[in-house]
Amino acid sequence: MPTAAQAHAVEAHGARIPLVGLGTWDLRGRTCARMVEAALRLGYRHVDTAEMYDNEREVGEGLRASAIAREEVFVTTKVWPSHFAPRALERAAEESLARLKLAQVDLLLLHWPNPQIALRDTLPALCKLKRSGLTRHIGVSNFTVALTEEAVRLADEPLVCNQIEVHPFIDQSKVIAACRRHGMAVVAYSPVARGGVTRDKVLAKIAAARGKSAAQVSLRYLVQRGIAVIPRTSRRERLAENFAIFGFELSAAEMAEIAPLAHRDGRIVDFAYSGSPDWD
Ligand SMILES: NC(=O)c1ccc[n+]([C@@H]2O[C@H](COP(=O)([O-])OP(=O)(O)OC[C@H]3O[C@@H](n4cnc5c(N)ncnc54)[C@H](OP(=O)(O)O)[C@@H]3O)[C@@H](O)[C@H]2O)c1
Repeated sequence: MPTAAQAHAVEAHGARIPLVGLGTWDLRGRTCARMVEAALRLGYRHVDTAEMYDNEREVGEGLRASAIAREEVFVTTKVWPSHFAPRALERAAEESLARLKLAQVDLLLLHWPNPQIALRDTLPALCKLKRSGLTRHIGVSNFTVALTEEAVRLADEPLVCNQIEVHPFIDQSKVIAACRRHGMAVVAYSPVARGGVTRDKVLAKIAAARGKSAAQVSLRYLVQRGIAVIPRTSRRERLAENFAIFGFELSAAEMAEIAPLAHRDGRIVDFAYSGSPDWD
């Protein structure tokens, strides 16, 4: 029997990405391993990490502690932009797998665009990692419309997703449309706006009417548009809350009420990689 998360997945170029995953940025040490294990025991089948999060070892520990079969869990990791030169990319992917203690990840992403290394060098190298079996699928993260188009043009393997900031307060319609044009899934990071959804009156009103939380309404709003979500929490009770979004459906009127909350300047994650040596 598929779990709720497996049954609810977005498909893109042969990848089946469970609609709800656990985000792990900022989860460290034992907390990280325990939250991954607890999430999987609750039914999550999708975990998001990155070499930059410095927690791949603990994510791997949590996966093993859960005793859920490897093939049931969709594991994503990301390569940091300072490692986008072809040989560095391959080494970074191998090191991520070694830390996770996995033979293969399900999805390997380019974490942020790197203006200093040409995509025409990085994309063929990324595609090669898929062909050599280090990852089942490949994709990008934080790519604009123009960069998404360029990446698709340069790739000779399908790019299955663009992981971007999406929540009710940000208008990402253009990049979402670009992903759709190329059959790519959209995976939403910061999907509860880092807790900001709990302070919004429209979401609070809909949540109260439905006996749900504002976070659940926000997550439901996204998955109902076919967008996968990877909320992060360090609290067990919120793991269950963030996962329990399949037993109700927002009406067209409720969806229409939430839509105008989105703004072009609604971004929370204000970052652009510029070759800073802070993390290497
Ligand atoms: N690709 C990228 O560049 C990128 C960038 C940012 C994030 N990400 C990924 O996306 C994941 C999620 O994004 P995020 O961590 O930025 O933001 P988020 O998931 O929107 O928010 C996490 C914050 O919201 C709180 N929270 C979680 N569930 C809640 C709920 N039900 N009610 C109220 N508050 C809740 C958490 O606090 P508690 O811990 O106290 O519950 C935490 O402080 C990350 O962990 C990471 O895996 C990727």
